[in-house]
Amino acid sequence: MNNEISIGLLGLGTVGSGVARILNQHQQDLHHKLGVQVSIKKVLIKDEHKERLSILDRNVFTTDVYEILNDPSIDIIVEVMGGIEEAKQSIESALLAGKQVVTANKDVMAEHGHELLKLADRERCDLFYEASVAGGIPIIRTLEDGLASDRISSLMGIVNGTTNFILTKMKQENMSYEKALAQATEFGYAEADPSSDVDGLDAARKMVILSSLAFSTEVHLEDVLVRGMKEIQDGDLELANSFGYTMKMVGTSKKDEEGIEVSVEPIFLANSHLLASVNNEFNAVYIYGDTVGETMLYGPGAGSLPTATSVVSDIIAACRNLLLEVNGKRVHAAQHKRVIKPANCCYAKYFHRLLVKDEVGMLTKLTSIYSKHNASLQSVMQHPIKNEGMAEVILLTHQISRQQHLDVIENLEGIASIISHYRIEGEESA
Ligand code: NAP
Ligand code: HSE
Repeated sequence: MNNEISIGLLGLGTVGSGVARILNQHQQDLHHKLGVQVSIKKVLIKDEHKERLSILDRNVFTTDVYEILNDPSIDIIVEVMGGIEEAKQSIESALLAGKQVVTANKDVMAEHGHELLKLADRERCDLFYEASVAGGIPIIRTLEDGLASDRISSLMGIVNGTTNFILTKMKQENMSYEKALAQATEFGYAEADPSSDVDGLDAARKMVILSSLAFSTEVHLEDVLVRGMKEIQDGDLELANSFGYTMKMVGTSKKDEEGIEVSVEPIFLANSHLLASVNNEFNAVYIYGDTVGETMLYGPGAGSLPTATSVVSDIIAACRNLLLEVNGKRVHAAQHKRVIKPANCCYAKYFHRLLVKDEVGMLTKLTSIYSKHNASLQSVMQHPIKNEGMAEVILLTHQISRQQHLDVIENLEGIASIISHYRIEGEESA
């Protein structure tokens, strides 16, 4: 290893090709930074007949992962193959063989990150995963290092490029949901199965990773309240706009003395909020720290070179540790017990859109349900629907608990159909 550090690359798709390109194009810079040569020794692929990057010699390719994992001359395994089981097994085998590991795999890190980080600690190896959340944005390093001195009390993120792209196109270009999703798929933002983007699973996994790190606790996928884009009904984007809000799919994590709450859902975000201006496929993570106050990181959340930038930065970190012989010295053990706040302790304002019979006394019936559950209302608006004997009623609440919100919704069902409902964040600017 003295004059050369060898990489075993598991996967040469979108991200893997970007990693190979950056390592090739930035060789001199890397040598300057590290004082050694960093080179790709072997590459795992599945399909031997695919055309490959010409910068790589054909004899580096293999379809046998153990040819890489059992090669004692390989120092760092870079897992960019995706999937869960095989990727997890490869990471485990690499760590057990004393190799440093870099991964971009949010699925593995969200489902098995806690156990893999414990294994890495036990084996005194590095396990870096910067690219697993928000592609090219250095958010993991910011939480681990840049804000290490602070106590983070809340974190909000637009961490899924596909849904942000769809909502931007629907709002700014009046594009249909289907067309916007097709474009997001064509441009390579969406997952192979885009339901994990639009149903919120992809963002939920990223919020598990971020929340665990930000609050030094073990957040699990089942702790995240998830609502997907199918909650959004015709006319909701325009309504959000008319009240001074923008509809965004946002991951939120908050912590206080009662515990933490984590969610991914479409919300009404005040136009004045920093995240409201994050458009298209871009990602951003807004952090509130007790001492730093507000900060926000913004950038490309996906794509070959942006994501590979994070992977290669992790490779550099692992190389530095190798040269100093200090791998696996980071503290990963959670500081705090996992305490998830119950719904009656999570407070927010809510937007409720209902369809009711347009008849005398209806508003009184509706508002009496809110008062029965102590859910204070900020405003009520009624819009009759011409010639149908029906009316749409919009109710905005003051701060109420999620439990009150759920109780109200459940009790309204006898007299109204609930068209849609959303949490509201930030103060409206209009
Ligand atoms: P991809 O384009 O589908 O590439 C996957 C690569 O892994 C391909 O080269 C494939 O081989 C190889 N591979 C997959 N399963 C294999 C197996 N069982 N045996 C051998 N080779 C196998 O995926 P990607 O978009 O680069 O994503 C890689 C990882 O990065 C995923 O965990 C993803 O979530 C994460 N990530 C991606 C992005 C992004 O913008 N794409 C952003 C952030 C994080 P073949 O080439 O032979 O098919
Ligand atoms: N499908 C993901 C997104 C890719 O749209 O953000 C990056 O993780």
